[in-house]
Amino acid sequence: MQRPYVIDEMISAKSIAARIESLSREIRDEFSGTNKLVVVGLLRGSFVFIADLVRELDLPVEVDFLEASSYGDGMESSREVRILKDLRGAIEDRDVLVVEDIVDTGFTLHHVTGLLASRNPARMKTIALLDKPSRREVDIQADWIGFSIQDEFVVGYGIDYAQRNRNLAYIGKVRFTGET
Ligand code: IMP
Ligand code: MG
Repeated sequence: MQRPYVIDEMISAKSIAARIESLSREIRDEFSGTNKLVVVGLLRGSFVFIADLVRELDLPVEVDFLEASSYGDGMESSREVRILKDLRGAIEDRDVLVVEDIVDTGFTLHHVTGLLASRNPARMKTIALLDKPSRREVDIQADWIGFSIQDEFVVGYGIDYAQRNRNLAYIGKVRFTGET
């Protein structure tokens, strides 16, 4: 049984869109001249972000996905990262942008960038929509961050709580109500 909760809006759909516009300008400048940028989305939380981001990116892009799992269905990272689905394409000598929804403890991004770096991409950069610096356990930072947030459990814009609420257009924080 799911504990009852409500969702308080934290970042509006409008602010997300505005932030993505400016981030995509920075990314375009960084990768200008690339003949192909492979945008790697980490499933499933980044699917909305990556969809909006690539449509703002004025570059020749390919989209690929990788699924790593560190969370079960709950709110705590297991700290053990498993690759559940690997990329379809090769990234050797390619420019790569890894797109993550949230950097929390940092275990996922650390593991994934280590794996992809071993395949010798020409250049690899990372972007995370959200960053929770106070939760970090591994020393890693994304090259671009949408919003830095407090230690709150958030949902929406692709991000879930036990697979729910991914379809919200905004990002909200989970607040439990009633008896525990
Ligand atoms: P990390 O390995 O601890 O950095 O965890 C990263 C992953 O945990 C993210 O890709 C999210 O899928 C998940 N995660 C971290 N914080 C939250 C949250 O507040 N809401 C939902 N998922 C989260
Ligand atoms: Mg994730």
